[in-house]
Amino acid sequence: RNLKWMMECRSDIDRLNASFLEIYESLIPREEEKVKQKQLLALLEKLVCKEWPEARLYLYGSCANSFGVSKSDIDVCLVISDADLNKSEVLLKLADILQSDNLQNVQALTRARVPIVKLKDPATGISCDICINNVLAVVNTKLLRDYAEIDERLRQLAFIVKHWAKSRGVNETYQGTLSSYAYVLMCIHFLQQRRPAILPCLQEMEATYSVTVDDVECAFFDQVEKLRNFGSYNKETIAQLVWAFFSYWAYGHNYANSVISVRTGSIISKQGKDWTRRVGNDRHLICIEDPFETSHDLGRVVDKFSIRVLRGEFERAAEIMQYDPNPCVTLFEPY
Ligand code: GTP
Ligand code: MG
Repeated sequence: RNLKWMMECRSDIDRLNASFLEIYESLIPREEEKVKQKQLLALLEKLVCKEWPEARLYLYGSCANSFGVSKSDIDVCLVISDADLNKSEVLLKLADILQSDNLQNVQALTRARVPIVKLKDPATGISCDICINNVLAVVNTKLLRDYAEIDERLRQLAFIVKHWAKSRGVNETYQGTLSSYAYVLMCIHFLQQRRPAILPCLQEMEATYSVTVDDVECAFFDQVEKLRNFGSYNKETIAQLVWAFFSYWAYGHNYANSVISVRTGSIISKQGKDWTRRVGNDRHLICIEDPFETSHDLGRVVDKFSIRVLRGEFERAAEIMQYDPNPCVTLFEPY
């Protein structure tokens, strides 16, 4: 299938583009929301430092990676270096401290896959999850944020894809579909693969930022202000990219053999990673390599039922982009 030919079939491509940009603009959080998030973080910092003066709080996830839509919850990581630290005890203690300071619905979930304290701040209305020493998440948040600085089309595409995934119910890891983090990695990889490329591969470039976290070396080029023109040879618009993204996942991707890898900026083989068979609960039916924890497949949550749902949704979206008179409405219709 030839992209150019396909898109030229749509005489309304310019109008379509304007509509996608409008949706994108409507999803961006307002400045006052960011201010409120900072206020809440400052309050939490004050409370935490009374108990653990050397502890630090970091924002991670969508409130810090620039892929957060308005009214998102915030994810906070408490970094505390205590040799004989028991995470559950710290979480319970933390819940205690926060409880006594007017915060609502404070709950310690010590048995979750990622143990957290949840709370809601009545002053700002913001809900917040706090985890402990999840430094890799703070680092991959920076990687995503740095990619977003290079070409605005990444943020546009990812907002549209996340909005589609939420509307269609395929952004629920507990139901076997993909996390927001996985969708953003799919968008980055897709833009690395365009010809001419819209995004570079920061981990293959000379490292200007490097940290070692839990024995994983995280190194990449982070002087992204020098890469602002990187994608300028590629003139594709957001409507074309949304179309091509869904067509790729509907018809182009080799589910049997391929792993998408932001780390290498390319497709790698399942064989090479030994992701060809089911081991425990990891089925590898759609393979998305974590950029730092390379043994971690973000598609591991997908099972033989949900893969059909997911691929069905990619096909539906590709069809709509091709034939529907009003894709900007139909694409996001609730399932
Ligand atoms: P929304 O809250 O849906 O807007 O997006 P989010 O970016 O906050 O995504 P999500 O809640 O899926 O993940 C939060 C952060 O956890 C990500 O941005 C990553 O930094 C980190 N993370 C690391 N590994 C994983 C993983 O295996 N699954 C998920 N979901 N998150 C991970
Ligand atoms: Mg989040």
